[in-house]
Amino acid sequence: MKLAAVPNFGDYFPFLGILDVQGLTRKMKALSKVFDDFFEKVINDHVRDWDHGEQTKDIVATMMSIMQSGQTHDEFQFDRRHVKAIMLDMLAGSMDTAASSVEWILSELLRNPTIMKKVQKELEEVVGLERMVEESDMDRLEYLDMVVKETFRLHTVAPLLIPHYAMEDCTVNGYNIPKASRIIINTHAIGRDPDAWSEPEKFIPERFVGSEIDVRGQHFQLLPFGSGRRGCPGMQLGLIQVRLIVSQLVHCFDWRLPNGVLPEELDMTEEFGLVVARANHLMAIPTFRLQN
Ligand code: HEM
Repeated sequence: MKLAAVPNFGDYFPFLGILDVQGLTRKMKALSKVFDDFFEKVINDHVRDWDHGEQTKDIVATMMSIMQSGQTHDEFQFDRRHVKAIMLDMLAGSMDTAASSVEWILSELLRNPTIMKKVQKELEEVVGLERMVEESDMDRLEYLDMVVKETFRLHTVAPLLIPHYAMEDCTVNGYNIPKASRIIINTHAIGRDPDAWSEPEKFIPERFVGSEIDVRGQHFQLLPFGSGRRGCPGMQLGLIQVRLIVSQLVHCFDWRLPNGVLPEELDMTEEFGLVVARANHLMAIPTFRLQN
């Protein structure tokens, strides 16, 4: 993730690209070999299971059946290289995004103890303290949903999304976008735009009470997963992961900051990369609070 985020001088001065002055191409090639070996192993494991009639119905198996039908019908090119590229895309897209989102949400809850208490109260009312919160409870945790949205607004993990590219001339909201334009969307700025949000610097989950604004790409003030055809394909899984992990951590434990750090003193420095994560990991002390 770090290598992919480093600005490559060769992108701006192509003649430098050949020289590889930063050594990025060399490092990327070494890394690609590591990944390639790993993906080959995953594919080979699936082929072996297939041969033994023990086929797992997962996404790799699905891609491999597309690969095989492609070979027979010759409709489109889809071979091992494409299966491996999609696996890499999914690994890169899924890990740091969800982990950083969880860390930002917990950080905001530790900085805002009253809001933390409100989330815990909702969990007590919906789930009680006798069992752990489960995925099936998620729909009834409305306040938690607002906390997640408010964190996505202030700490969008992909602040410039992924560059989009216009395949054709088009007009969006009266703006003419010529074919082959590269469009970079600054969701970080949108999330803090006073024309779109009142008191944008403040963490106020209640702003979503009675509001229709959702995170699924239909409301352009809030685009944590992007929008349209190149939007995040893992959104549903990402939302489940983030809501479930945060709710379990907050439901099962009370949290306090170590070394007498006050909530308002919590370090919220960001580290810019492909994903904007906390510069320093969050340190907090849990105390178990369920009744069993
Ligand atoms: C909270 C968790 C997540 C967040 C905030 C997030 C956010 C994003 C964003 C903003 C983009 C760029 C969209 C655009 O440019 O319009 C993206 C792309 C992508 N995401 Fe996620 N994501 C999350 C979880 C996941 C998960 C769990 C997966 C896979 C299982 C995943 C797979 C991908 C992939 C493959 C792309 C690239 C799509 C393409 O090729 O254009 N993401 N994600």
